[in-house]
Amino acid sequence: MAEPVRSVGGQPPVDLRSDTVTRPTAAMRAAMVDAEVGDDVYGEDPTVAALESEVAALFGHEAGLFAPSGSMANQIALQLVVPRGGELLCDADAHVLAYEVGAAAAYGGISTRTWPAAGANLDPETVQAMIQPDGYWAVATRAIAVEQTHNRGGGGVIPLATLRQLRDIADAAGVALHCDGARIWHAHVADGVPFAEYGSLFDTMSVCLSKGLGAPVGSVVLGSADRIAEARSIRKRLGGGMRQAGILAAAGRYALRHHIARLAEDHARAARLAEALAPFGVVATPVRTNLVPLDLRKSPLDGATFAAAARAEGVLVSVLGPRAVRLVTHLDVDDAGTDRAIEVLTAILRR
Ligand SMILES: Cc1ncc(COP(=O)(O)O)c(C=O)c1O
Repeated sequence: MAEPVRSVGGQPPVDLRSDTVTRPTAAMRAAMVDAEVGDDVYGEDPTVAALESEVAALFGHEAGLFAPSGSMANQIALQLVVPRGGELLCDADAHVLAYEVGAAAAYGGISTRTWPAAGANLDPETVQAMIQPDGYWAVATRAIAVEQTHNRGGGGVIPLATLRQLRDIADAAGVALHCDGARIWHAHVADGVPFAEYGSLFDTMSVCLSKGLGAPVGSVVLGSADRIAEARSIRKRLGGGMRQAGILAAAGRYALRHHIARLAEDHARAARLAEALAPFGVVATPVRTNLVPLDLRKSPLDGATFAAAARAEGVLVSVLGPRAVRLVTHLDVDDAGTDRAIEVLTAILRR
């Protein structure tokens, strides 16, 4: 068990570690309580079915599949587009590679090759040059994965023009394009690109309900009706078939209705944090969404020392590397919490 998060001076901590730490709101819990449910492995849960078709319609895909986590949703999608022994191209910092514990290789028999970590600034021509054609001697490239927004890339938003160029490259090479859209909601709010426009560019997508949207559990895999029928078997094989999952899907449906537009508030608070910390030379990349990556190389503090000092003052941050720290704004961080974080973090940097 991780050490419990204690309160400081009688106040709850300002938890900026991740947008996964949110707790369902009272209204979301009420929606969960009222959910109509059935056995989803039998295909009988109406709330899950409604969620799947709503998300699919939003992105203009034929079908969707509710999955217990973003990682499982990604891995199901990758297995749909890359046969065993085939190759996936992705960013060296991609979540599908860096944080999914070798699942593509372990469960999908998928070989992975990466382009140098570029966050949202990926260069389509670099990707194009890496595509390996079919041949009995070769590991043929079968799919390209991108991440929107880019987690290790500081919440950067891949421009629509880049994604369109990548789509053309994928079409010309006959390979599939997958989007890890755990935070695609933030990209939509930041750049104003309609969800259906994003949806039209990808063969498969995974979109997450339990990060910025604030639901307790769940992601949705999107694709063609045929692919999603196959995805249902893959999910079951991975142990991800759920029974009365409508309780969880109801939280996701609530989040889709009530928690997308408000992401602009999280972006504004992240921008405020970045603006306050910028004079110390520690903000790693321009902040576009709800992630604020800090690079402490210009500070005498390392990441662990910075995080421990912040924790002692009731502000929780994530340490991503010896000198790398991340702050994340979300549903459970309000303006007062942002002010408190600014006060604590700037005082630490001034020491
Ligand atoms: C970009 C991205 N993709 C996928 C995931 C995986 O989601 P989960 O933690 O639900 O498996 C995360 C989790 O933080 C993420 O940031």
